Amino acid sequence: MVGATRIEEVRSEISELAQTSPTAQDLMRTMVKLLHDRMLKYNWVGFYMLEPGANPPVLVLGAFEGTMTPHTRIPLNQGICGAAASSGRTVVVDDVNKDSRYLACSLETKSEIVVPVFVHGKVVGELDIDSHFPAAFTSDHQNLVQYCATLVGKKLETTPA
Ligand code: SME
Repeated sequence: MVGATRIEEVRSEISELAQTSPTAQDLMRTMVKLLHDRMLKYNWVGFYMLEPGANPPVLVLGAFEGTMTPHTRIPLNQGICGAAASSGRTVVVDDVNKDSRYLACSLETKSEIVVPVFVHGKVVGELDIDSHFPAAFTSDHQNLVQYCATLVGKKLETTPA
């Protein structure tokens, strides 16, 4: 079982990455790899970023680890990804097959979390994680993923994109 200790370890490794990454792009690339490699239940980990200037707004697939997804561009009125970006709130879905918003990426996916990334108070993208396990994203995991999204937002505020 992946317990609190693993979450704490990964949290401090992520914090170190945030300090040593020269750019937000580097941080996102290394972060998705670390989360995917270290967390047993994080089977697809990726960022979707709002395309600058797009009207209507659209989320574009960025750094990710896991199998390729058919959803490389997601409008804000579609999917769990669209719901998180348009509301500016974390969305946790314990059973994706019971959520009519869900856009399937892999048949194996059972649960999902999407956490918005903010820059100066505005949503600029999000961190999306899929799990092959139902209800994988308990409150400890939500805290970890929110911490990751916050670090990326801060990095975007302080370094060139
Ligand atoms: N499941 C997401 C789409 C992205 S894939 O999971 C990578 C959604 O419902 O928005």
